[in-house]
Amino acid sequence: MEGKTKRASGRGLYAEGDKNPHEHDGTVHETTNPTGTKKLYIESYGCQMNFSDSEIVASVLGKEGYTTTQNPEDADLVLLNTCSIRDKAEQTVRNRLNHFNGHKRKNPNMKIGVLGCMAERVKGKLLDEEKLVDLVVGPDAYRDLPNLLQELDGGRKAVNVILSKEETYDDIEPVRLGGNGVSAFVSITRGCDNMCTFCVVPFTRGRERSRNPQTIVDEVLDLNERGYKEITLLGQNVDSYLWYGGGLKKDFDKASDLAKASSVHFADLLSLVAEAAPKMRIRFSTSNPQDMRDDVLETIAKYKNICNYIHLPVQSGSSRILELMNRGHNREEYKSLIERINRIIPGCAISHDMISGFPTETEEDHEQTLSLMEHVRYHFGYMFFYSERPNTYAARKLEDDIPLDVKKRRLTEIIQVQNKHSLGRHQEMIGHTFEVLVEGTSKKSDEQLFGRTDQNSVVVFDKGSFKPGDFCHVKIERCTAATLIGSVVEPS
Ligand code: SAH
Ligand code: F3S
Repeated sequence: MEGKTKRASGRGLYAEGDKNPHEHDGTVHETTNPTGTKKLYIESYGCQMNFSDSEIVASVLGKEGYTTTQNPEDADLVLLNTCSIRDKAEQTVRNRLNHFNGHKRKNPNMKIGVLGCMAERVKGKLLDEEKLVDLVVGPDAYRDLPNLLQELDGGRKAVNVILSKEETYDDIEPVRLGGNGVSAFVSITRGCDNMCTFCVVPFTRGRERSRNPQTIVDEVLDLNERGYKEITLLGQNVDSYLWYGGGLKKDFDKASDLAKASSVHFADLLSLVAEAAPKMRIRFSTSNPQDMRDDVLETIAKYKNICNYIHLPVQSGSSRILELMNRGHNREEYKSLIERINRIIPGCAISHDMISGFPTETEEDHEQTLSLMEHVRYHFGYMFFYSERPNTYAARKLEDDIPLDVKKRRLTEIIQVQNKHSLGRHQEMIGHTFEVLVEGTSKKSDEQLFGRTDQNSVVVFDKGSFKPGDFCHVKIERCTAATLIGSVVEPS
């Protein structure tokens, strides 16, 4: 489900008990830059990529003398890094913009800007018709922020929503915002070429391009040196990573034979990163069933430091709906991939994204979704009801014909099945001992810490002498569907 809590700070994405580590809602970022004179307040909504992009933005603006603040009333510049994935995400942003316009009435020098997917989708409308913002910047235009801010200083409004064929921000060193100093995101691709018929991302983030692997490894090594213990490689579809010297993924066929022969696929990148930082935990998100190759599974199995956890959205258990969604695979092919994961990486945790009420979905299709869930027994799930997005194929060609109450009822049933499986998976872990990377202090008690297992389960335990960034071994004693509870033991 969509996150509801507004977190004041911290690594919202992986916060303890967070329902959805793949999405977040209103994380406020703060870092310190003692040399900065101007104050930036930045909030991120939506996927991890937005969180990661906000770190690029903070880096670009840091060079312009901005330091981040947690107090919007103090800010010279308020930025919202936005999400368009469902209508509700955009409503949330509109509400926040109205809220910040309240501050602006008291402090007319304050500038308000919208970044990210909603900036790209709605473009100048937020500025001209709705008069909610001064600045609109799409996901590929963050390097232009200094120029755009100058435009604002000249009393003009500023917009840049040009999507790029090359931009990967690979030379920009992100400013790590509000994190726990333990875990960081590293972007590896931008955009998406998959064109799932319900999805707005290909329109808001443009065509898919991969980042130079050398800059990825350099960033990981730098994080390692600075004491980080875990990285998550990020892309809309990491399995589709393909470096052949730059350019769009779709132009790979036109590359020279030499470029093709020396190209780097996702499995190669995983090995490079795992070997460069053997003591760090390596995670990745999001995997895509139509592009995930067995060499990726073999690489996960080969390296101890690559976590045994795959977020593998499926969206529906019905082959008919999968076809209408243009997912590029059917139910049987997905089941066969799950079998290969279970065989090649025994014990690997798998999570999903699921959508209820896609156009034309019948009760039978819905039953197929529930039965696929029973078959896989996912460890975690992120579940939504269908929200029609303007300009997508589904919006243009398919009628949004499932009544809201039916979408919601089916979603509730999907969530109930998932809760049963999450609890069951956790119950099976009771009595077992897991290595846990400590991320922070438990929300419920200062005397307890929380961290994650390799398989991505949240574990809470008495802190003893441990601190964030430590690895410890925890024997599981109790659980809920969301959390494991245990005690630190000596490694066996
Ligand atoms: N590949 C991406 C997917 C981004 S969208 C990734 O990195 O996760 C995240 C999830 O939102 C999708 O997997 C899908 O389950 C859901 N979603 C996307 N568009 C949607 C829509 N129009 N209505 C409801 N849910 C949607
Ligand atoms: Fe969206 Fe499908 Fe890409 S869900 S982000 S078009 S893989």
